[in-house]
Amino acid sequence: MTVIVTGGAGFIGSNFIFYMLNAHPDYRIVCVDKLTYAGNLSTLRSVMNNPAFSFVKLDICDRSGVYSLFEKEKPDMVVNFAAESHVDRSIEDASVFLQTNIIGTSVMMDACRKYGIRRYHQVSTDEVYGDLPLDRPDLFFTEETPIHTSSPYSSSKAGADLLVLAYHRTFGMPVSISRCSNNYGPYHFPEKLIPLMIINALGNKPLPVYGKGINVRDWLYVEDHCKAIDLILHNGRAGEVYNVGGHNEMRNIDIVKLICKELGKPESLITYVADRKGHDLRYAIDPTKIRNELGWMPETKFEDGIRRTIKWYLDNRAWWEEIINGDYQQYYEKMYKDRQKA
Ligand code: NAD
Ligand code: DAU
Repeated sequence: MTVIVTGGAGFIGSNFIFYMLNAHPDYRIVCVDKLTYAGNLSTLRSVMNNPAFSFVKLDICDRSGVYSLFEKEKPDMVVNFAAESHVDRSIEDASVFLQTNIIGTSVMMDACRKYGIRRYHQVSTDEVYGDLPLDRPDLFFTEETPIHTSSPYSSSKAGADLLVLAYHRTFGMPVSISRCSNNYGPYHFPEKLIPLMIINALGNKPLPVYGKGINVRDWLYVEDHCKAIDLILHNGRAGEVYNVGGHNEMRNIDIVKLICKELGKPESLITYVADRKGHDLRYAIDPTKIRNELGWMPETKFEDGIRRTIKWYLDNRAWWEEIINGDYQQYYEKMYKDRQKA
């Protein structure tokens, strides 16, 4: 079995590659990644010499490059992680989000259609459902919740999802989609909440909490997401969407305080800054379908996962120091310097 994994030099894609090489030692994994600011080849160092693994630097929007790759590798399955993934960047400039997340997805699916595929899996997000109110803890996103996006990022992911489902209906393509909640774990890019707070706290720098810090996210350890995708890929029904989440809702401010506590840092580092435009209030997944159909359950409890994650950032300083000492500095300046107090 040959599996093409796009976006495998990013956070979840790399964790998925490690998971698959371990779970299916007889599979060939071909990682396709453009190596944008979010992709790091150093992340894949431990598998580079594995004969079951190969890396191809390629933009998923490059149609002839993608077709040549399919001709050469003859993949049985494709898992599409490649995307622009940061909401704040999409608010600054949506164009690359539309290009990679929608056009790139269409190129990958056209290649699958042309060369044949057993399964195309689209890695999507709970953000396509928009948000839930803070005062209705009884409400959850199910697969039937209408698409109702808030940001350019989530709109581009929703566009891709609709296209994937259209290829199933129109061309009978064997597709599946997972819509997962917020992931955390090793190799999470420093611009996102949890790694940003760990890294800033370690440097005794301000911890910039948007608005009042009361927005709620439903956190899942990255390996649990990888297991869910593996199950859907092999046992999920074609043409179906599966929500993935572990009923682990937390307010941003509580996460930041927990990180301070674990690192022995003072809460006085917390700085409330201007809110994100259009900031989604609450995400909460109902995972009944994947549990009932595929027997998936999250295995890592948040208190264990967050400790493991913090330890990973302490043990792997070289990985994130290389990132924050590069272009990331200009990004951080631009996004946080003039952010007025909320
Ligand atoms: P990430 O930003 O860490 O990694 C994205 C990867 O895609 C990078 O390696 C990047 O180089 C690559 N890439 C970007 N544009 C490309 C292109 N045109 N061609 C080839 N490669 C390209 O993202 P992530 O957090 O690992 O998210 C992966 C996927 O999972 C995304 O599709 C995202 O929408 C989805 N998702 C993420 C989360 C989360 O909490 N991070 C939750 C649910 C779903
Ligand atoms: O729900 C799944 C989504 O989770 C994925 O589709 C996205 O790719 C992924 O980036 C993530 O989106 P969020 O916007 O929820 O993640 P982020 O880490 O950017 O922010 C989490 C929360 O923390 C959000 O409410 C905004 C807040 N925040 C974030 C940053 C970076 C802060 O308060 N301060 C910050 O500096």
